[in-house]
Amino acid sequence: MPHLCIEKVPNTVVEADEPKGGRLLDTCDDHGAPIPFSCRSGSCGTCRVEIIEGEALLDPPEEEERQILEMFGDPPGRRLACLIQVREGPGRVRLRVVDEE
Ligand code: FES
Repeated sequence: MPHLCIEKVPNTVVEADEPKGGRLLDTCDDHGAPIPFSCRSGSCGTCRVEIIEGEALLDPPEEEERQILEMFGDPPGRRLACLIQVREGPGRVRLRVVDEE
């Protein structure tokens, strides 16, 4: 898994390296990342994030995830953090929490 950089405006940043790869949700739990989770299963939209960098290092969204993002009117480049699977390999993924306030 690449190096992960998870940001929340204005200034919270959590960085992590995960050598085993896998679910972003697990990385967030392990490192106290500032992404708010509720259902943790891709149905509520609470954990929406914007992919700033490294989208090619993530498995693409399934149809169910695309439908939730469409329901919220999110532009391309946003994902549900609880469903993101990060691929193994070098590189950097940078995410920012979607703040609607
Ligand atoms: S926590 Fe509900 S969609 Fe991710």
